[in-house]
This record gives sequence, structure tokens and C-alpha cells, in this order.
Amino acid sequence: MVENGKKLVELKNLNLVFNKGKRNANKAINNVSFDIYEGETFGLVGESGSGKTTIGRAILKLYDKDIESGEILFNGSDVRKLKGENLKHFRSEAQMIFQDPQASLNGRMRVKDVVAEGIDVNHLAKDAQDRTAQVENLLQLVGLNHDHLTRYPHEFSGGQRQRIGIARALAVKPKFIVADEPISALDVSIQAQVVNLLKDIQAQNGLTYLFIAHDLSMVKYISDRIGVMHWGKILEIGTSDDVYNHPIHPYTKSLLSSIPSPDPISERERTPIVYDPTDETDGQEREMREITPGHFVFSTEAEANVYRQHLK
Ligand SMILES: Nc1ncnc2c1ncn2[C@@H]1O[C@H](COP(=O)(O)OP(=O)(O)O)[C@@H](O)[C@H]1O
Ligand SMILES: [Mg+2]
Repeated sequence: MVENGKKLVELKNLNLVFNKGKRNANKAINNVSFDIYEGETFGLVGESGSGKTTIGRAILKLYDKDIESGEILFNGSDVRKLKGENLKHFRSEAQMIFQDPQASLNGRMRVKDVVAEGIDVNHLAKDAQDRTAQVENLLQLVGLNHDHLTRYPHEFSGGQRQRIGIARALAVKPKFIVADEPISALDVSIQAQVVNLLKDIQAQNGLTYLFIAHDLSMVKYISDRIGVMHWGKILEIGTSDDVYNHPIHPYTKSLLSSIPSPDPISERERTPIVYDPTDETDGQEREMREITPGHFVFSTEAEANVYRQHLK
């Protein structure tokens, strides 16, 4: 799916501190660098509090004041320097889908107005009729229909509400969507439907996704590449296959070993790997090093050489 190898999003040595200079200062992002190519889905996994949402929101220019150093480029432009028309354009090109559609949709607005908000703000409809037509198209695209136009979000199931959230994000014809745990709150039976919907929409529109989840098994199906986060750092980056089937960093291995197996025999034999994070605090100089082509692990040169030996 990485069609032309063009970088849409580039993070370069991003450092972000919440409550900078205060007693409760929190270094949420620690020297993170990665690229997201146009047309790909980049999955970001890691346990709660590891900094996934912060990265997504920082890319969307919601945490400018908290960024300590580093750069975020979107289509080659420095996101933090966007102003005026360029900023407006960026705001429609980059959208977000949330974990909890209930909380993110205004409950007092009818579905047609929830979905049309971006159309209204950006004056994308010629007249009322065009506005309705656009909303109907969007609802159809996400598997809802025109009977739903005048209902309120609370009248829908969780899966349908997530579809409304997706329609709302698509209304402004974005290029890039941060999907922040979009299926975590849904019934397992509905999760695959929503993931498939996101995949179909991507195939039709050439969208680029940052897909956030705390569970590797959830992102591997939709992602082209995956980054694994822990304590504000990225510890491993590779293709979905690399990270899921050939994990290298001990933390990635521990994440994978905590996924229950559907097969009762291998489930009985499953030994969860416990990750010991002292190797992140021993003061040694670590950086992302390439172990096999395109597969990077946060390591010292000596550790990287051991990983390379093991893979031979
Ligand atoms: N707006 C904020 N102000 C202060 N601290 C925050 C804020 N948002 C997140 N944090 C902190 O930053 C860290 C990373 O949080 P977050 O990005 O939400 O993690 P994740 O999405 O991986 O669960 C956590 O320690 C969290 O408490
Ligand atoms: Mg989060």
C-alpha cells in the first residue's frame, strides 16, 4: 500500500513535555522519529500511558506549546509554523477518529448536522440541497442510510456511532486520519466490520492512517508498518509481518506473549514474557538501529549486533 514512497508525515527527534517547568512535568514523548508514507497505515501500539495519543494529537497541531524540540512535517511543511489559509487547509486535510464516539459526537445535534459540521465550517456546500446530498453520500459510504439523517447519536449502537464519527471525519475530504483506538470500545463482533470499513475507504480514497491501539493483534491486520511504544519512546519499527511474526525487542515480545491464543493447547503452553525495562534506564546510549532492511530496534550497537547474529 506504500504506493509511491512519498512521506506524508515526518517526525524528527520529537520531544514533548507536559507541564514544562512545573513539579508535575511529564516527558510524554522522548526523541521519537518516524515517517508515515502516503497511502499507508502506520500502526502505533503500546500500553496505556505510553504516549500514543500524544503523538497523534501533536501531529494534528494540538500540542504546539508542549513541544520541547524536534520537528513535525506534513506534506513537507513544518506543522508548527502553519498559519492563516495554510493552517485552515491543514485542519481539513488531517482529521481524527476517536475511541469513544459517544463522547466525541455532540449529543444534542442530529446526525445530519454532526456529519455536516466540517462542510459548514469550510463552506464546502453550494447550498442546502448540496449539503444534504453530501451528507447522504457520506452516510451511505459508511453503511448508514438517509433514514438516519434526523436521528440523534444516542439512538445508535456503538458500531453505528463509530460509523457516524468516520463520516464526520471524511466530510472535509481529508488526506490523513489519526484513528485513536477506534475499535477498542466496540464489541469484538463489530470490530472487524469497522476495520474493514476503514480499509475500504482507504482503498477508495487513497487515505493515509495513523492507527493507534494498545493491542498488537488489533493493528497487525490493518497496518502496513507498526511502531511499538513504551514510556514515550519508540522501541521497534518494522512491517506488520516483521513486528508481529519476527519481534526483536524484549518489550515487543512481552506484548505479543500477553495476547491469549485462540487454540487451547498453545494457550495452556503460553508463557507470558515479562519485560524488564532496566535496559532503558541504565544510561547507555541507545538509538534506533536497523537490524534487517526496514526493521529498526532501539538498541546499543552491541545489542544490535547480537540481534543481527540471532537472525542469521
Ligand atoms: N493533556 C495532558 N496534560 C498532561 N499530561 C498528559 C496529557 N495528556 C497525556 N498526558 C500524560 O502523557 C503520558 C502519555 O499519555 P497518552 O499519550 O494519553 O498515552 P496513551 O495514548 O498511550 O495511553 C501519560 O503519562 C499521560 O498521563
Ligand atoms: Mg490514548
